[in-house]
Amino acid sequence: MKRGTAARRAVLRDLEHIGLRLREVFRHPSQSPAARHPVHAAHRLLGLLKASAEGARDTRRLKRDFPALADLDGSVGKAVRELEATYQEYVTMISRWDWAISLELAAVLMACCRLLRPTRILDAGSGYSSYVLRRYGAEALRPIHVTSVDDDPEWLEETRGYLMRQGLSANDTLTWDEFKGQDRGEFDLVLHDLGHENERLRTLSDVLTLVRPGGAVLLDDVGNPHMERYGPYARRMLSARRFRAYSLRALTRERGYSRYAMLGVRL
Ligand SMILES: C[S@@+](CC[C@H](N)C(=O)[O-])C[C@H]1O[C@@H](n2cnc3c(N)ncnc32)[C@H](O)[C@@H]1O
Repeated sequence: MKRGTAARRAVLRDLEHIGLRLREVFRHPSQSPAARHPVHAAHRLLGLLKASAEGARDTRRLKRDFPALADLDGSVGKAVRELEATYQEYVTMISRWDWAISLELAAVLMACCRLLRPTRILDAGSGYSSYVLRRYGAEALRPIHVTSVDDDPEWLEETRGYLMRQGLSANDTLTWDEFKGQDRGEFDLVLHDLGHENERLRTLSDVLTLVRPGGAVLLDDVGNPHMERYGPYARRMLSARRFRAYSLRALTRERGYSRYAMLGVRL
């Protein structure tokens, strides 16, 4: 796959979406919500264009700043093909798809692991992400330590059962409260996907302190319409805590759903 193709595809998809909305306005003005509320519609389209341009630009910045990620697109494509079957089964049999991370983010998570080779990983918000990270741990040639935490003990139990049925280690799975009571030091890579919006807002500050300098945090659900406060808050926190932030929208936005992830690298 050529460099930058994922970013280009994402921008084309957004332009196609905008084109469809505009066509609707001109063809069926009486039925189009955008024609009835033009200011609101224009505001939304401008927001979409801005997020789209930021996503494409940040994918380029990321590859420039981290030469290890130069072939991120290729590695993500490979991970999608490898994970697709288990992911579809997971979101059919185990969890609702909008609770689990997206297949796109699962593939970026696996690709980041393979290319950046973290050895200490925190999986905050257990589920399919726990499977991805432990599968990376099982394939790696050196010891990888994955800690999975969850605010919901019952859900954690569900995750343990799933990991064991998949033949993966369910070691070091604990509740957020247990985890907070221990000093586990810092992590090379952290995925923050704990609970819903309130838990996310409440725990982000603590989670960011767990990333080692030079380490990375992946924040899911930026741009999620059901978590409107979270995206702006996460951006402010990353900047205040001296993380360099990258929108992963071009790589992690699902078709038809506006949630995507951001990557923060601690300076
Ligand atoms: C935002 S997600 C975490 C998803 C996880 N990272 C994954 O990749 O599947 C799910 C959060 O919702 C909670 N949860 C509770 N019941 C759940 C259910 N039936 N399905 C999925 N998540 C559930 C858990 O506390 C968990 O932290």
